[in-house]
Amino acid sequence: MYFDLDIQSGISQILPNVSTKTWGINQPFLGVTLRANKGDSVHVNVTNSLHKTTTLHWHGVKLPAKADGGPHQPIKPSAKWLSEFDIIQPAASLWYHSHQMHETGEQVYKGLAGMFIIDDENSQSLNLPSEYGVDDFPVIIQDKDFNQDGSMQYLSSMRDSMMGKKGATILVNGVINPVLKAKRSLIRLRILNSSNARIYQLQFDDNRPFKIIASDGGLLEKPITSKKFTIAPAERVEIVVDVADGSMPILKHHANHDSMSGMGGRGMMNEKKEFNIFQIDGSQAALSTATVVEKLSVHATYSREVAVQERLMTLQMNMGPQLMAAALFGSKDLLTINDKSMDMQRIDEVVKAGTVEVWTIKNDSMHAHPFHIHNVQFKVISREGGIKGHELGYKDVVLVHPDETVEVIMKFPNFSDANTPYMYHCHILEHEDRGMMGQFVVV
Ligand code: C2O
Ligand code: CU
Ligand code: CU
Repeated sequence: MYFDLDIQSGISQILPNVSTKTWGINQPFLGVTLRANKGDSVHVNVTNSLHKTTTLHWHGVKLPAKADGGPHQPIKPSAKWLSEFDIIQPAASLWYHSHQMHETGEQVYKGLAGMFIIDDENSQSLNLPSEYGVDDFPVIIQDKDFNQDGSMQYLSSMRDSMMGKKGATILVNGVINPVLKAKRSLIRLRILNSSNARIYQLQFDDNRPFKIIASDGGLLEKPITSKKFTIAPAERVEIVVDVADGSMPILKHHANHDSMSGMGGRGMMNEKKEFNIFQIDGSQAALSTATVVEKLSVHATYSREVAVQERLMTLQMNMGPQLMAAALFGSKDLLTINDKSMDMQRIDEVVKAGTVEVWTIKNDSMHAHPFHIHNVQFKVISREGGIKGHELGYKDVVLVHPDETVEVIMKFPNFSDANTPYMYHCHILEHEDRGMMGQFVVV
């Protein structure tokens, strides 16, 4: 499978009367959807047509470190980068985005993000809604602020860079308030939260139930009927919605009390707590012949006993005097994992290829952090509030609430490279850019 990708800038019509300068991949804004099958050898030839150095990271993909597209694989303006890897994992809605050191937040905000869908024999045999653009849709959710002249407004305050940039306008696939005119009664939505920092609590305005069928790493073992779910930055949740009743449900974000607690909560007091995401118009939908069966996939599970190594990751936001110093001197070292801010020259952890590990992620701050690990899909094995919904599936990001501790178990693939690290980090992009990131090599 060969892909030619061109990272470019462009002009997009997002707001009614003004145009906006945007970035995209093979199009002016956001990236085209990539699709491959398990077993494929993927060759991606990336050209950077921007005036800025950037990278393209394959989020959620198990691959050799050199192909990962993290901060160690920068692509200079006019340069090319070839990334090659085999798809060794099951069907899933993965994604790709810029991972440029200290600039990921700004570059993803401008549009350097797209979906990467993997199919396999199992996913194709299930009779799930799977006709792209007909009953199977990517739903890339982002929130932005715009200036009067239509330009995007990125970090304009110290608060944004500490709490993460949240915008007052919600875009779905680059469009404000779109309506999906359903042609079939069963609609599959591959929802990706590609926002820099906002955590969404999603539900339909009529509170209708739907089926959650997949998490970050692919299909769940069995579907879960639900009326709402939480999706943190970088997470993916696939749902199947039935609109056979011909109605027009609106998918909404409604922040509950829970997510408003802690420091992030106080900062959000004067912020809108409810947004419409998009609407499905079921009035023209023909009865679907697709189904959601009770057995979607079989997961390999690892017990704690087979883990050869445990690691503790403590997430910290240094407030008080350090915050003052940072405000004065523009320090990037305010946010840490295990008391260290990201340093590209330092390897923090060394993992043995092909082994199982348990990582304990401890949030020592008053802000929620979605923690992400490259090159693996893990299972959450313990969390205070219990494990439910899409968190029962394979994950590559897990939301860790203030003062919470979460444990995950994973098997590292067999790729080894002592010289090229993978990243683990908070996926609030402003936190990542300001140091809440570390590096591991697999040997
Ligand atoms: Cu989604 Cu390190 O990235
Ligand atoms: Cu990643
Ligand atoms: Cu964070």
